[in-house]
Amino acid sequence: MEYQAIKSEKVPSLGLGTWRLSGEECVWAVERALALGYRHVDTAQMYANEGEVGRSLRNSSVDREEIFLVTKVRTSSFSHNNVLRSTRESLKKLQTEYVDLLLMHWPNPSVPLRETLGAMRELQEEGSVKHVGVSNFPPSMVEEATEHAEIFCNQVEYHPYRTQDELLGQAREMDYLLTAYSPVAKGRILNDATLREIGRAYDKTPAQVALRWLIQQEKVVAIPKAASEDHLRSNFEVFDFELSNEEMERVFELRR
Ligand SMILES: NC(=O)c1ccc[n+]([C@@H]2O[C@H](COP(=O)([O-])OP(=O)(O)OC[C@H]3O[C@@H](n4cnc5c(N)ncnc54)[C@H](OP(=O)(O)O)[C@@H]3O)[C@@H](O)[C@H]2O)c1
Repeated sequence: MEYQAIKSEKVPSLGLGTWRLSGEECVWAVERALALGYRHVDTAQMYANEGEVGRSLRNSSVDREEIFLVTKVRTSSFSHNNVLRSTRESLKKLQTEYVDLLLMHWPNPSVPLRETLGAMRELQEEGSVKHVGVSNFPPSMVEEATEHAEIFCNQVEYHPYRTQDELLGQAREMDYLLTAYSPVAKGRILNDATLREIGRAYDKTPAQVALRWLIQQEKVVAIPKAASEDHLRSNFEVFDFELSNEEMERVFELRR
């Protein structure tokens, strides 16, 4: 496992995304991921699977403190009281006393950032939440958010076909985590000729090259979703090779 250093915290570079995992499939995938060595799990109130993720955490022999657990407040719960109420519900479902990171899932201009982030800060002060952050925020809104809380993370869509140059620069300057969601572009990069060619030298697939490219960037972590043993395993086999600067550049050039 590799880590990204953010504000004197170490975050596992590769996590498991759980959107569209539900029921027993979700319980199995999260448990299996933990057994394979994953130590970072991403869920959300919207995914309606926090209960299943909680069961996996309880079933697993991995200590809770070793896992970086992330959930997100749904946009319809951004009022002060709803942030507190819904997050406490999340903790109950997740069967844990705290989450490592609580995110605002999407911007919602109908509730002031001050109100939502203020409530999230209260949860942080009582120890229910270690860090707070945002998701799908453009740079200007991240900037605004920092007036109301210490922003640990912005989770956004990021993969070889999607550029995030401006946010990347901001993440480095402001020392926050840029979590790349849909890191294998929901499967769209799986047959990419350039990624395949780069991977050939290392005996790696296009998906593994894309994940490696992401986690090799300063402040970036990736959270691929996987539901099978094969995908869970291969997505985790990205710590035994390194892309050269020239190969990194070639992947950057795939942007569309
Ligand atoms: N903050 C947000 O608004 C937001 C939005 C979207 C996603 N997310 C988070 O990011 C996570 C990942 O994003 P995503 O689910 O949109 O897309 P993704 O991880 O890029 O793609 C998932 C798809 O790719 C397949 N796949 C995964 N690894 C593979 C491999 N090694 N080889 C071939 N196929 C592979 C999966 O198949 P199987 O399922 O069959 O294994 C699944 O169909 C989500 O689960 C969620 O936690 C957050």
